Amino acid sequence: MPVGDRASPVTLRIGVLTGGGDAPGLNAAIRAVVIRATALGHEVFGIADGWAGLLAEAEPRPLAPRDVARILGEGGTILGTSRTDPRKDEASRRAVIECIRRFRLDALVAIGGNDTLGVAQWLHEQGIRVVGVPKTVDNDLSETEFCIGFDTAVTVVADALDRLRTTASAHHRVVVVEAMGRDTGWVAAFGGLAGGADLILVPEVPVTSEDVVRTMKRRRAIGDPDILVVVSEAAEIQGLEAQTAVDRDAFGHVRLDQRAIGAVLARHIEQRTGIEARQVVLGHLQRGGSPTAVDRLRATRFGNAATDLVDAGRSGVLPVHRSGRVDVATIQDAVRETRGLSDDIIELVRRFAGPLD
Ligand code: F6P
Repeated sequence: MPVGDRASPVTLRIGVLTGGGDAPGLNAAIRAVVIRATALGHEVFGIADGWAGLLAEAEPRPLAPRDVARILGEGGTILGTSRTDPRKDEASRRAVIECIRRFRLDALVAIGGNDTLGVAQWLHEQGIRVVGVPKTVDNDLSETEFCIGFDTAVTVVADALDRLRTTASAHHRVVVVEAMGRDTGWVAAFGGLAGGADLILVPEVPVTSEDVVRTMKRRRAIGDPDILVVVSEAAEIQGLEAQTAVDRDAFGHVRLDQRAIGAVLARHIEQRTGIEARQVVLGHLQRGGSPTAVDRLRATRFGNAATDLVDAGRSGVLPVHRSGRVDVATIQDAVRETRGLSDDIIELVRRFAGPLD
């Protein structure tokens, strides 16, 4: 018997997992999936630690609305997460599919970014019903304007700049703030603009070390007592050698924190301008703690929509944010390429926090 406005003729066993780097708002998304699925008469099972949970054959845990009643504002993920690629060898590929069958999961909701959703797309191609939810503080998935976690990360950067402005001002220093962003400058650009940074350096906008030095000198010459620079961890500054990142994660991505671009840049500025400079790496502070109201709402809307897509029998798709509305895209399109800063944001960065002539 159909329950409520349910489209599925049968009660579904829906597995939910969170994969990749954690992001504030994951719990809000899990909560939305559980509440919506239960209202539709389906059952939800939480898979531990992303794809690793299926490889380890860890029994998924049943999730009822009371299990998620108090997690809306909690950071992290009650399910745990990991960077695990089950496509890495034939045995893992077989194991993950067998595990889904053994646990009699009719469908999966995979909450993640490019890597997690890449695996979701592969499972979809293997005939497993999978719906995605866009999550990454980097905000670089295609097809969607916003991902879960991004707004909180931006807020952390803006708050940090407010604090750093006062100490930079007291000491008449330059402070270089290193922000996250694997291939793109979304967090640095939005956080830097919101926090009034004087110079924002992102991978999408080429800049030279001379541009940076000249800008620092010009700012000092026009009487700026303190100068805040936001640099994305992936930014390339021509003429400046970042440190060599050695380690890679399971998906082959280099550890960008090991480039130490913020430290390298601060040292360069001090040596070349004589202005005292310090650096702050915001790192995982950008991913920790309670999600903003915006992230809670986005996560709730995405989790709700993803569950409706599962209920409607869809697979290989995910809810996305377009012009304020929740729309649907294919996972394949969402992961096809990392989405860099849009032209209007690049222009805003140039006008408000670009190098000076
Ligand atoms: O992809 C999200 C992200 O936070 C990147 O911005 C960053 O480079 C990376 O993850 C850090 O990963 P980890 O948590 O494994 O150090």
